[in-house]
Amino acid sequence: MAASLSYQIYKNVLMFASFLAFSQAQQVGTSQAETHPSLTWSKCTSSGCTTTSGSVVIDANWRWVHTTDGYTNCYTGNEWDTSICPDDVTCAAKCALDGASYSSTYGVTTSGDELRLNFVTTASQKNIGSRLYLMENDSKYEMFNLLNQEFTFDVDVSQLPCGLNGALYFVSMDADGGSARFPTNKAGAKYGTGYCDSQCPRDLKFIDGQANVEGWQPSDSDVNSGIGNHGSCCAEMDIWEANSISTAFTPHPCDTPTQTQCETDGCGGTYSSDRYGGTCDPDGCDFNPYRMGDTSFYGPGKTVDTNSPFTVVTQFITDTGTSSGTLTEIKRLYVQDGEVISQSNSKISGVSGNSITADFCSAQKEVFGDTDSFSAHGGLEGMSAALAEGMVLVMSLWDDHYADMLWLDSNYPTTASSSTPGVARGTCDISSGDPDFVESTYPNAYVKYSNIKVGSLGSTYNSSGSGNSGSSSSTTTTTSRTSSTTTSGGSSATGLPRYSQCGGQGWSGSTTCASPYTCTKQNDYYSQCL
Ligand SMILES: *[C@@H]1O[C@H](CO)[C@@H](O)[C@H](O)[C@H]1NC(C)=O
Ligand SMILES: *[C@@H]1O[C@H](CO)[C@@H](O)[C@H](O)[C@H]1NC(C)=O
Repeated sequence: MAASLSYQIYKNVLMFASFLAFSQAQQVGTSQAETHPSLTWSKCTSSGCTTTSGSVVIDANWRWVHTTDGYTNCYTGNEWDTSICPDDVTCAAKCALDGASYSSTYGVTTSGDELRLNFVTTASQKNIGSRLYLMENDSKYEMFNLLNQEFTFDVDVSQLPCGLNGALYFVSMDADGGSARFPTNKAGAKYGTGYCDSQCPRDLKFIDGQANVEGWQPSDSDVNSGIGNHGSCCAEMDIWEANSISTAFTPHPCDTPTQTQCETDGCGGTYSSDRYGGTCDPDGCDFNPYRMGDTSFYGPGKTVDTNSPFTVVTQFITDTGTSSGTLTEIKRLYVQDGEVISQSNSKISGVSGNSITADFCSAQKEVFGDTDSFSAHGGLEGMSAALAEGMVLVMSLWDDHYADMLWLDSNYPTTASSSTPGVARGTCDISSGDPDFVESTYPNAYVKYSNIKVGSLGSTYNSSGSGNSGSSSSTTTTTSRTSSTTTSGGSSATGLPRYSQCGGQGWSGSTTCASPYTCTKQNDYYSQCL
């Protein structure tokens, strides 16, 4: 795997305030030119794959928001300037989103078909994580229609410890970011506007061409975030939520698949006091191998070995076997070192299968005693309706100020016994995911997504033989995996490289880390060179 990346240099065009006087009532700033990092991906059929030139854009929430007639902040830290922004409409008219310095400010870089997201980037300010969308061109998101298709990508989660989430997923955003439906949104997709998901997030600074300043409450724990009265709902298909310890894929339907605005606690989801009070399914129907009882399938040194990159294939099966049918099953498989690895089977008594089906979901909800908000908001048919209309690809890296990511990688709820079915989701300690702790302990964590392919079932990966050499990949994505007790890529003669496993129950490998790293316990089952 490439240890160093070539960082692209972006134009930093400064314009003077006097010049801006000629462009009245813009809601796009021009302090920094917006140059989308390019990212190639492939469309495949049974006769092969062709490369598409795309690019990525960072979400509007990460951007500098300043006055249209100058450079006064409209929003600083986690608070709005209410003298500029007395209400949502005035604020949207007076404030502009500016261009992004992808690499230096946000730690986002691309190279060919690979996107790398760094966790903590400290430039003039400290940036935590990022959220990006794949674009068709500079003003439009790429729309994916995944029914009767498969979606494939390679991921490197080796440097994502407990508490982080490298997420690749689809949401039913407007292709133009909402600028046609809401003409006061002048920024559009070019500036990463229009986000929505099944939590109906209320931390967005702008929704539907208006600001979200009314009712804004700064977060107690997040110096960059808060919530306003409005949220932005839409269906969400989580292909991949993962770190090196745990992974899950999860459909989340909504009553209305496309983007709709919600109000206060009527939004439901993570950001509201009434989780199930909204029109979307905040929980989804998740398949996490560990939670489904196979604790040896995914992780460092396990069947899918997160010490090295691997390929993730997700198939959207319909009842008719055509793209006009209805979604009946979501299947998953992996390819690592040329070997196809089937998704683990559920080992939970009363829940069977290794894919998401209506039967799997209802059995899982019942056995785990979970609220079945998935069925209540349309189940697989609801997800199907969203997929049929086209969805936007999101790639992100985040930590969790609401639940410390314990729902993904630890015991959750933390007060329940880990032997109760559904509670244990991974080996991380319940104290592992505190954002202050992970940001200070693992600032150099990152995720890499690459080799994105979409196409007919079976066309995006090789079911036998070695490798999956995409026509566009300049670097080989099939790394040579050495045995799990010796770790590739480091100075193993003097100890294990950074981020290697170095201990834990059942560990028989070396416990010595290369200088300057020390073997650090993450939980009873996993210690890592940090
Ligand atoms: C982007 O593509 C759409 C068609 O999908 C087209 O209508 C639009 O003009 C394009 N915009 C740019 C900036 O190329
Ligand atoms: C499958 O392998 C062949 C031979 O290495 C390669 O040409 C082709 O691109 C691969 N297909 C995919 C989908 O990766």
